[in-house]
Amino acid sequence: MAERALPKHPSGLYDPIRYILSLGGKRLRPALALMAADALGADPKAAMGPALAVEWFHNFSLLHDDIMDEAPLRRGKPTVHEAFSSNQAILSGDVMLVQAYQLLAELPAAQLPSALALFSRTAVEVCEGQQHDMDFEIRQDVSEAEYLQMIRLKTAVLLGASLELGAMAAGAQAAQGRSLYAFGEALGLAFQLRDDLLDSFGDPALFGKAVGGDIAQDKKTFLLIHALQTAGPEDRAVLDRWIGVREPVMRTEKVDAVKGVYERSGTRTACEKAIEREHQKALAALDSSGLNAGNSAALRDLAERLLARES
Ligand code: IPE
Ligand code: IPE
Ligand code: MG
Ligand code: MG
Ligand code: MG
Repeated sequence: MAERALPKHPSGLYDPIRYILSLGGKRLRPALALMAADALGADPKAAMGPALAVEWFHNFSLLHDDIMDEAPLRRGKPTVHEAFSSNQAILSGDVMLVQAYQLLAELPAAQLPSALALFSRTAVEVCEGQQHDMDFEIRQDVSEAEYLQMIRLKTAVLLGASLELGAMAAGAQAAQGRSLYAFGEALGLAFQLRDDLLDSFGDPALFGKAVGGDIAQDKKTFLLIHALQTAGPEDRAVLDRWIGVREPVMRTEKVDAVKGVYERSGTRTACEKAIEREHQKALAALDSSGLNAGNSAALRDLAERLLARES
């Protein structure tokens, strides 16, 4: 069932899928799967099944994530639960998850058991990360280490798996697949740190999501954790005043107040440094993958551009 071959009926189930896929997005995860196969000297087409599978899985996770985060906008348009309904976002998301498995199952039989094991482990980890993300909303003592573990699970492992699945489809040695996974995992940490930064400081016209959503929801992002740990008494009082305030009418005032603390406490710069730290770890993992500089050049270039992204 490719996107173009989606059934028409019941339209309430399939229209939301057509809608979210038509909005595009960066298609980063399939790009990583295809680029891994390419860098290993295989025909990238060999990785088409896994590439599509990770993108369908990602879109499934977005439909459910936007319900959990009460997000109004995705890719510059109303989220699926706003444009349709929460029940439809749940059910259409479920179909997308099944579709992801069907696409993965197109791999040759010899590669399927290891690919399925990696994909399933990753899918469970993403759910674990999402649960930590929600649990952290009502905690004020989340450490940076706990945060990094949470984003590793909710975001980074899928980037790692996209690359490793691409390597598996290319028939690479297991060790090479694992180094590419390590590159994707570190890149994923940097990518989510950048997402957190843009959620507070991005340009609404470019970001495609509602800026300030993480602050409104008391998400324990790198920014909030750093501010809670470093703010002086006055700024700490501002944070204590606003954390837990969820009334929609107070949203703008809350977002402005918390962003003010971030600006004053050097939190933004600290986040940029953390992004660069993970970026360097990603490049080191890529170096240890044994790919020659020429073959890894496109992955390096992609990492560079991703971490400077505005959308
Ligand atoms: C959004 O992912 C979810 C995160 C892990 C931050 P992307 O930023 O890759 O979203 P699209 O697919 O390009 O819209
Ligand atoms: C999302 O993290 C991770 C998953 C979808 C699994 P976010 O909640 O930060 O992603 P956005 O900002 O809504 O895209
Ligand atoms: Mg979200
Ligand atoms: Mg979320
Ligand atoms: Mg986000």
